[in-house]
Amino acid sequence: EHLPFVRIDEAINYVDKQVKIAGWVHRQRVQGKKMKFLVIRDGYGFLQCVVGSDLCAIVDMQELTVESSINLFGTVKKVPEGKQSSNGIELIVEAFEIISKAPGGDEAFGNILNAEASPSIQLDNRHMVLRGETASSCIRFRSLTLKAFRDYFDSKNLCEVSPPLLVETQAEGGSNVFAVDYYGNPAYLTQSSQLYLETALPSVGDNYCITESFRAEHSVTRRHLSQFTHVEAELGFITFDQLLGFIEDMPPQKPFLRMEYTDAIQWLQRNNIERDVYVNDVKVGQEPYKFGDDIVESAERTMTDTIGQPILLTRFPVELKAFYMKKCPLNPALTESVDVLMPGVGEITGASMRISDYAELIKAYEREHIDPSPYYWFTDQRKYGSVEHGGFGLGIERYLAWILNRHTVREVCLYPRFTGRCSP
Ligand code: 4AD
Ligand code: MG
Repeated sequence: EHLPFVRIDEAINYVDKQVKIAGWVHRQRVQGKKMKFLVIRDGYGFLQCVVGSDLCAIVDMQELTVESSINLFGTVKKVPEGKQSSNGIELIVEAFEIISKAPGGDEAFGNILNAEASPSIQLDNRHMVLRGETASSCIRFRSLTLKAFRDYFDSKNLCEVSPPLLVETQAEGGSNVFAVDYYGNPAYLTQSSQLYLETALPSVGDNYCITESFRAEHSVTRRHLSQFTHVEAELGFITFDQLLGFIEDMPPQKPFLRMEYTDAIQWLQRNNIERDVYVNDVKVGQEPYKFGDDIVESAERTMTDTIGQPILLTRFPVELKAFYMKKCPLNPALTESVDVLMPGVGEITGASMRISDYAELIKAYEREHIDPSPYYWFTDQRKYGSVEHGGFGLGIERYLAWILNRHTVREVCLYPRFTGRCSP
């Protein structure tokens, strides 16, 4: 046959025409002995198909098992008002051929993956879960989101760079780095590409990357992954306020509530949200938050959910943040830093101005007990034409979990990596 080969998302343009569609049997339903309804999935959409009684009479419909790959030939029809269809059309099937038949019986797709399958069975069968409506929409939306970020950066004239993922430095502190054996020498999987983006500033100006970061997180939470896609950007010749403005311009709604860390501590005190106190890793009680405390995930989320809108939480104490952060000119106990907090998820972005003064950076290494030698190239930025600059990192999975209202960041990963899971 010489029918046009049409993708399901384009089928709407072929009403009353004969077409060929190729895909997988997503669902099937027999109505009496006369008619069979199929939902075909081709990666671009879902299409309801009707196999009429004539055809049913001459072929063995048992062959059409769920997940079999199949070519269908037929006529696209508008679905009458009131009749159910996701895209307003259906295919009246005139002929079909099975490309590859999926198993039925015990090994049938629906027996391996049904609605009651436990989370760990779902994760073991992620390659099958991906074929579902929710997972495939999440993955497609993720692709659109990455494109939107690239378009945004492009509109602001940022240059995309591709930093190394195998590195000798720890951008965010040593507690959660993955160490690897690099030809007999120690190296790490990068926690953040920020330090490299900073070095690209005098080369290509404002720049960004969208690449993987790795964190050996030891606790299992809804929002921590071992590998995540990090959207990072670095901007030169800016002020802290301009950095906040750039971040705010990115997400769909603005302006954001701006709140200083010090006010957040007071908010937690007023709302009687306390922090757990541990002695030798054993919880011994709770006490009110005070200045200098790290706001833990649950408290951060309670606060964000209660306030119920995006928050730019600014000016964290020096001790709570990474070595490279610039101090506030009017209060050197605080940093020019900001976390973006979203209801339902909490922190989705971390950002700051960076130390631009050479001597101050050397002192920061000392304070954090960091051996400066592997960072010589980063230090050199402060020696050869230092400028005021700052940037941010946004975890794409947390952003998507927020915007798609997912319970965990795992749901928006093709194959999530988190504490203990490296398969499939
Ligand atoms: O706050 P973080 O650690 O900041 C940095 O890495 C900076 N160097 C970024 C920069 O300024 N270029 O991480 C930034 C964001 C977090 O807000 C979070 O969204 C995400 O990265 N993130 C994680 N996402 C999933 N799982 C994890 N284990 C994550 N750790 C950080
Ligand atoms: Mg952070």
